[in-house]
Amino acid sequence: MPRTFDVAVLVGSLRQGSLTRQLALAFAKLAPASLPLDLVGLRDLAMYDPDLDVAPLPAPWVALRERVRRADAVLFVTPEYNRSVPGVLKNAIDVASRPNTASAWSGKPCAIFGTSPGAMGAFGAAQHLRQIVSCLNMPVMPTPEVYVGNVATLLDPEGALTNPKTVALLTKAGAAFAAWIERNVAP
Ligand code: FNR
Repeated sequence: MPRTFDVAVLVGSLRQGSLTRQLALAFAKLAPASLPLDLVGLRDLAMYDPDLDVAPLPAPWVALRERVRRADAVLFVTPEYNRSVPGVLKNAIDVASRPNTASAWSGKPCAIFGTSPGAMGAFGAAQHLRQIVSCLNMPVMPTPEVYVGNVATLLDPEGALTNPKTVALLTKAGAAFAAWIERNVAP
């Protein structure tokens, strides 16, 4: 039986109507069956503060660290705030990277998707995110690069993708991610 890989999905937006979350959910529907995707809630995470990183730890920090540790792989789906990743996503990365002797990210294969209602598809945010994860010992899927621009025009009111080119790109990315995880996942 083909192996399935537990993928923790981190979406860099808290907004109720988030286009980024809609894109992540649309991707979850067309990703290979070997990749069950689970969106991780980031709403209740306090900002990382070393003074809080002592017992009793904030429960949302513990939950995030455990969720990421349990995952075989991680998918980051990020919008762009001022040409970088939103603070909520950077904070989640910081929280789960501590204690640095037991970073939850270490060794997890990951992929990075950028999306924006603007034309550039969060290219700047996705590039910054590649730089951020480069110190986390995460093998980052090199291609296909996924920058979904003009995303507001690509989703119907139910959050379904309307453009066959976007469906094709995400289908290709899903297959590549499954292969990337298979090649890089911890034994
Ligand atoms: C933005 N937005 C934005 N868009 C972009 O393409 N490049 C950018 O640098 C920025 N900068 C930016 C900063 C801040 C503080 C906000 C609130 C917004 C617009 C952004 O792409 C848009 O609000 C998206 O809809 C955000 O994603 P969600 O919440 O829909 O997932």
